[in-house]
Amino acid sequence: MSASVLIEPIYLLACVSFILALKRMSRPQTAASGMVFAGFAMAAAIAVTCAIPGMENFALMGVAILLGGGAAYYAAKKVAMTGMPQMVAIYNGMGGGAAGAIGALELLRGASGVSAAFSALGGIIGAVSITGSVIAFLKLQGWMRERPIVYPLQKASNLALLGAAIIAGALCVFRPSREILAAFFILSAAFGFLMTIPIGGADMPVVISLYNALTGVAVAMDGFAIGNFAMMVAGTLVGAAGSLLTLLMAKAMNRSIPSILFGAFGAVEQEGGDIAGSLKPIEASDAALMLGYAAKVIVVPGYGLAVAQAQQKVKELMDSLESKGVAVKFGIHPVAGRMPGHMDVLLAEAKVPYDRLFDRDEINAEFSSADVALVIGANDVVNPSAHRTGSPLYGMPILDAEQAKNVIVLKRGKGKGFAGIENELFYKDNTRMLYGDAQESVSKLIQALKDV
Ligand code: TAP
Repeated sequence: MSASVLIEPIYLLACVSFILALKRMSRPQTAASGMVFAGFAMAAAIAVTCAIPGMENFALMGVAILLGGGAAYYAAKKVAMTGMPQMVAIYNGMGGGAAGAIGALELLRGASGVSAAFSALGGIIGAVSITGSVIAFLKLQGWMRERPIVYPLQKASNLALLGAAIIAGALCVFRPSREILAAFFILSAAFGFLMTIPIGGADMPVVISLYNALTGVAVAMDGFAIGNFAMMVAGTLVGAAGSLLTLLMAKAMNRSIPSILFGAFGAVEQEGGDIAGSLKPIEASDAALMLGYAAKVIVVPGYGLAVAQAQQKVKELMDSLESKGVAVKFGIHPVAGRMPGHMDVLLAEAKVPYDRLFDRDEINAEFSSADVALVIGANDVVNPSAHRTGSPLYGMPILDAEQAKNVIVLKRGKGKGFAGIENELFYKDNTRMLYGDAQESVSKLIQALKDV
């Protein structure tokens, strides 16, 4: 029996592992094992691909895998949680680039008919994904202006560019030549670049998820072009999962995909309107008194907690409060932070037990019975203006922290949230502001609690 009969069954096994991996990654408790499933599936798919009859250039492939794997290992160990979105963006770009390269190679090798059409589709989507993802990376890394870059006739010129790329792609299928192929990839890559620069930095996680879905689709197209079963299935899975995630994120922010892609959100600073009341500061010692004598505290973490890397201190604070008999719960908004599951991952890293984490639907009914809502570096996700028509946040489902008997907000100063508007919660009678970096403020609270 030739070893090649094992190729399809092993690909099938890898596909099943990919599906199980995705399933397990949807819950924090099983996410780590999901990564193991995904790693196994990838290793099996690579190994079995090397066994395909006629495969050559093993040394070159080995060097590429060592270089890529080594860089990924180093980055995964080194990158801080706040750097995760841009790391995902760049990995995503690599996937798009690889898919684009496969499409280009197939067209260069003279693919024809349906195979050429799939290669061209894989090529255009892959090329758009790589340049788009690189822009997302640069914006999130702070190496490029985060605010949307807008100019006159931007949408029309982008549309014309896309049209030209599609025509070049069609020519590659029907009247191929090296020059047309080069033009096709240059136009596609330019479109990815130009359609991403008008998107603001804070919308990038949604864009990354969208490009992730597109990369999956590109891989699936290439899979159809070269008749590779694993690429068809894995690409379709990534495409479907990425699309769902994109839609979920957009829904949780109450934004439509077109408004994210073409709305240039953040190009102009939003006005918050007049807000009654004033910001009332509080000292850590007084805040610690309120917390220490509370029966129930709901912690609302947000992007500032990630910036301050305050998760370990927050866990210490939780332990300290619980040792005094205070019930502590965490209210997690689905888009708190800058990437899906951002808060879950940070708190899991600090070993906050999962049974203390509650999603929006579970926790909202509990704020009215909480003595203190402790808002740590969160802003938009607790902004009550989301209930008011006319607000840029209107319709965004929020955490109703304002209903707690007291609200303590930890932030550095008067910085606005991602939406760029004032937060009326901060001005309410029952709200007190504990100013400073979240990690330092939480440390002060832990210290002060010792005397309570
Ligand atoms: P934001 O609205 O971004 O507010 C974060 C707040 O943290 C700021 O007001 C800032 O105020 C404070 N802060 C920053 N660094 C801090 C530090 N070192 N210590 C203490 N405070 C600090 O955060 P959020 O409430 O988590 O909302 C997330 C927003 O991002 C939502 O509008 C959401 O739609 C958007 N978004 C989320 C995602 C995903 S998937 N999570 C994707 C795209 C967009 P100071 O400057 O005064 O400190």
